[in-house]
Amino acid sequence: MSYLLGIETSCDDTSMAVLDKNGSVLSNVVSGQIKAHSPFGGIVPEIAGREHLKNISSVLELTLKKADIRTEEISGIAATMGPGLLGSLLVGLAFGKSLAYALGAPFYGVNHIEAHLLSPWIEKRALPFPSLILVVSGGHSHLFYAEKEGDYYLISATRDDAAGEAFDKAGKKIGLLYPQGPAVDRLARKGNPKAFKFTMPKMKSGLDFSFSGLKTSFIHKLERSGIKYPITENDDYPDLALDLLASFEKAVVEHLLERVQKAINIFNVKSLALAGGVASNTLLRAGFSQLSESFGFEYSMPPPAYCTDNGAMVAFNAFSRWKKGARSEIEKDAFPTSIWRKIEFREAQ
Ligand code: KG4
Ligand code: ZN
Repeated sequence: MSYLLGIETSCDDTSMAVLDKNGSVLSNVVSGQIKAHSPFGGIVPEIAGREHLKNISSVLELTLKKADIRTEEISGIAATMGPGLLGSLLVGLAFGKSLAYALGAPFYGVNHIEAHLLSPWIEKRALPFPSLILVVSGGHSHLFYAEKEGDYYLISATRDDAAGEAFDKAGKKIGLLYPQGPAVDRLARKGNPKAFKFTMPKMKSGLDFSFSGLKTSFIHKLERSGIKYPITENDDYPDLALDLLASFEKAVVEHLLERVQKAINIFNVKSLALAGGVASNTLLRAGFSQLSESFGFEYSMPPPAYCTDNGAMVAFNAFSRWKKGARSEIEKDAFPTSIWRKIEFREAQ
């Protein structure tokens, strides 16, 4: 039999997945690094690289075991090339290229954001193009127009912090431990989202995002509220702190959805898709479904396992190349950032 292996090591998750020849995910293993980075409140790049190196062989072993396949049955290997932390990327790339060389299998380099971007199709292959895709992660808040698979145009991006970064920074300020985004999500469920009023970011034109104003406003409100912080997730959380987190989460989500709604009125698309780590946020998922349904769009939001960094989306991104028997891309190198094709548009009046 013949299988495709995907390797993801762009940031702090060592992940691998196996796809069969129909593109079905047979296994998807993620080894996180929360313990290693937690004492520092965020990701330390040097530690991330070393942790990948420590974990990568056992992640491969477990991934193959879960898929119930042998190493020799791998006939294609995909790995993330960037954007991401160079020290982390190089571990996955070197490992993937060596394995490809040893097995005589083709190697495919994958752009991490494109992997997120296409992840809504892993479980919903029939989702029609053209599509509007919101990719929200710890490093990116990008809105894309996709004409078809592999044909992507950037509509807008964040002018400062990414959405996940905003959740992480606000959570860190209040005292939550890394990774703060999922903790903010859990705590916000217990608060009143209408308790604090945030002013929405206003840009004169365009569909860009901005989160630094919301983050600063969160800090001011926290300092003026009388809430005694830092408080960790295990502490008794005062209602006011839960309310503040819920109100902040609501503001971030409203800003994201307002941009998507504006884009819907400009671009002629057949579907909407949501991707990236922040796509596992409860309020965003609810709002995105509601928005899609109110406009009558087909839409897809991957399950949380395919939202946060994972090997399945990396393998899936290379799936069509592998199926077509495309030549090996063994010469491809790691890169820290990516440049996107842009699309001209006029805002609806
Ligand atoms: O895509 P991802 O795993 O890694 C990057 O490529 O950045 O995204 C990680 C980001 C972090 O900022 C994390 O706090 C955020 O996604 N995140 C969440 C949730 N789960 C992960 N933010 C809000 N709510 C969540 N449930
Ligand atoms: Zn990511």
